Amino acid sequence: MPNDVESKLLIVDDLPENLLALEGLVRGHGRLVYKAQSAEEALGLMLAHEFALAILDVQMPGMNGFELAELMRGTERTRHIPIIFVSAAGREMDYAFKGYESGAVDFLQKPLDPHVVASKVNVFVELYRHKKALRREMEAMAKLHREQEALVEQLQCTQRELERAVRMRDDFMSMVSHELRTPLNTLYLETQVRKLHLSKGNTVHFGPDRLPAMIERDQRQIQSMVRLIDDMLDVTRLRSGSLTIQPKPTDLAALARAVVENLAQQAEAAGCTVSLHAPAHVPGNWDEFRIEQVVTNLLTNALRYGGGQPVKIEVRTAGGAAELSVRDHGMGIAPEDQQRIFEQFERTEASRGKAAGLGLGLYITRQIVLAHGGQIDLQSAAGAGATFRVRLPLVGAPPVPAAPAPEPAAQMARQPEQQE
Ligand SMILES: Nc1ncnc2c1ncn2[C@@H]1O[C@H](COP(=O)(O)OP(=O)(O)O)[C@@H](O)[C@H]1O
Ligand SMILES: [Mg+2]
Repeated sequence: MPNDVESKLLIVDDLPENLLALEGLVRGHGRLVYKAQSAEEALGLMLAHEFALAILDVQMPGMNGFELAELMRGTERTRHIPIIFVSAAGREMDYAFKGYESGAVDFLQKPLDPHVVASKVNVFVELYRHKKALRREMEAMAKLHREQEALVEQLQCTQRELERAVRMRDDFMSMVSHELRTPLNTLYLETQVRKLHLSKGNTVHFGPDRLPAMIERDQRQIQSMVRLIDDMLDVTRLRSGSLTIQPKPTDLAALARAVVENLAQQAEAAGCTVSLHAPAHVPGNWDEFRIEQVVTNLLTNALRYGGGQPVKIEVRTAGGAAELSVRDHGMGIAPEDQQRIFEQFERTEASRGKAAGLGLGLYITRQIVLAHGGQIDLQSAAGAGATFRVRLPLVGAPPVPAAPAPEPAAQMARQPEQQE
């Protein structure tokens, strides 16, 4: 039991000499004695202090000891203070017993016997100290319990994050394998067929009329693998903060035209017509290679998820910014998916059946746009096509850190191996 529990005692008597005498009897180590000469004064003290015990003189002018006790029992703050009544008459005690049976109450008779006073007071003070110490321990335990609960909660949260990370890694591995295997399989089959032709001396298949198309097909497969690996490298760079942009004078209109041309075959394969609406020039200060990546990603998506419907690209200047929008009329994106598709590996359910993909393109795209001090937004509804709009500041906007939390702020650096 800790000894540092201090006990306050209240003694109430209308006669100062009685108070002094009683004080002498109840004083002790770790005790503070408060004196009151009336019930009113006593109540005031009780509201200001927490008492271990109140010793009340029964006979007082005005409110007597019993009436004071009555009042104390009616107030939450004073209800639990144990009371010792002091009286000269034995009969009064009988009466008092009936009235206060339930509470922690005791009695002292005048003239006061010092031993009796001491032992009775000791009982209450010890009780108080025990109760107080117990309460402290319980509070400490409750605090500990709360801390443990918070810790458990934190651990569970970390565990959930870890599980998600492991799941994402596994999904990622299987997606990458799948994505790489498709073009590799095609290439492998092609080589098998060619080998067969060669073994049969079937050189007609390698004639000048067939060779260019053959090389073209090979290049497409290889390019799709290179793009995939580039995306993965970009994400790694974004995470490690080693991607920075290198702005230089760039023409967004010319760039958009080049991308449309580059993807002409892909558009044809998707059965999409692509129309470009752009002024002759929209000059600005951007990282040409990275912005080309942005336009390519958006147009590729429009072709992939555009359901073979016409795709429209618009480039213009508006309000101090260059604006590029890509509109398709395909499956669209439901409102609840419109934020998350800009995160790594996020794809819509509707798109999974339509085309294979890693879900990295839009993440990289947004990081590049943000690093230019620009914005990207999306207008879409499920089944109603999608419009992605990129806005890039026209004049020297300082590049801002790329990746949002929890990724470390990333800078974009064009790596030599990515130059085409
Ligand atoms: N034009 C679009 N129409 C419908 N859904 C789209 C479109 N563009 C992107 N999405 C959705 O956003 C997802 C993420 O796109 P992206 O990051 O480019 O990854 P990927 O194309 O490899 O799946 C896509 O898988 C698809 O679900
Ligand atoms: Mg994509």
